[in-house]
Amino acid sequence: MIRVLKCVVVGLVASIAAACSSAASAPPPWEADNPVVAVPQAPLGAEIDLSSLPEPPTPERVRLGRWLFYDKRLSADNSVACATCHRPEHAFSEPTAVSTGIGGQKGRRKAPSLINQADALLPHFFWDGRAGSLEDQALGPIGNPVEMGMNDMPHALAEKFSTIAGYKPYFRAAFGSDEITAERIAKAIVAYEQTRMSGNSAWDRWRYERNEQAVSDQVKQGHELFFGKAKCRQCHAGNNFTDSKFHNIGIGWDPATKQFSDEGRFVVTKNEVDRGAFKTPTLRDVTKHPPFAHDGSLATLREVVELYNRGGKKNPYLDVKIEPLGLSPSEVEAIVAFLESLEGEGYQDTAPRAFPQ
Ligand code: HEC
Ligand code: HEC
Repeated sequence: MIRVLKCVVVGLVASIAAACSSAASAPPPWEADNPVVAVPQAPLGAEIDLSSLPEPPTPERVRLGRWLFYDKRLSADNSVACATCHRPEHAFSEPTAVSTGIGGQKGRRKAPSLINQADALLPHFFWDGRAGSLEDQALGPIGNPVEMGMNDMPHALAEKFSTIAGYKPYFRAAFGSDEITAERIAKAIVAYEQTRMSGNSAWDRWRYERNEQAVSDQVKQGHELFFGKAKCRQCHAGNNFTDSKFHNIGIGWDPATKQFSDEGRFVVTKNEVDRGAFKTPTLRDVTKHPPFAHDGSLATLREVVELYNRGGKKNPYLDVKIEPLGLSPSEVEAIVAFLESLEGEGYQDTAPRAFPQ
């Protein structure tokens, strides 16, 4: 009704009237494959209750965040989106050892998977835990000169997006007014990330629905080893297979120079024991993003399990929980099969075909 009245009033100006009548009849083309949809429920086994978050994602924020996550205009030269490195088909990680950002520049670390980030047990973000919330995290890469390269953050970002008229109605729907700020951009992206939940894997169906046919006997053996003899669950704990803590398993240690290629958690805490320690990553959908570890130095899951079987890579800061495991080759295979059974569903997505203009 209000919209109709507005149209009648401004209808006196012919050119605007044309825009108005088309706005009233047909939604803009970029809405076609990004409608407002209900916030999803966590799939079996993910154990995430989005409604219990301090700021639960709303359908309007998730829709806005979906555009923004895939929108390359977030970078200085419109060439890089969040999804350039966090690719949906790789469980929002990437199939390379390290990331490539603006101008083809290589980063030093691999982009971690973003699935199940809404898990309440995850207080730390980044491999070294330097961000305390997803919101802190989201603006970091936009200003980072090797990632998205936006100068003068957060002002330049807010200004750039304020010139895209097509975005305004969606900020209004998500936040109550047209105003476009970097903080709102971050919040919308976070809302989208939080809905990327993975569960209902073969392993979940076996564990939680007692479906004995869901997995093979080899997977069941791998499960026993993971939670028993191989003691993986000391760090890969809980429904999301991470304690969200930092451990040194030796990756990046060079025995010749006696140095790490990346000091990891030490960079943040300056605490000696944290040298070469990295955040335990989730193992859900781990099959989707080889090569593995923060530097992508392990090509296959078998290589990862064999490294643990040898007792990690020896160095003065090795975590006390890492020791030789004495696994037979068939036990190593069984653990690999178990990891493969953690391929889930619920998070998959593709880039929207069009963006607000
Ligand atoms: C050029 C590649 C690149 C781009 C673009 C990028 N990221 Fe990342 N992202 C990374 C890398 C690499 C890391 C790990 C960095 C580290 O640990 O120091 C990371 C880490 C993260 C993390 C932490 C995950 C965890 O488990 O701790 C989140 C969340 C994240 N990125 C979200 C985003 C969002 C949102 C955007 C877009 C605004 C974005 N990223 C853009 C490469 C990228
Ligand atoms: C002491 C804690 C700890 C234990 C025990 C542990 N892990 Fe890990 N795991 C980590 C950390 C930390 C990383 C990341 C290391 C890095 O990138 O430098 C990791 C990385 C991985 C990765 C690579 C994931 C990715 O996204 O790149 C896999 C797979 C994995 N672990 C499986 C296992 C298995 C299987 C076991 C048991 C045999 C196990 N872990 C035992 C802490 C642990």
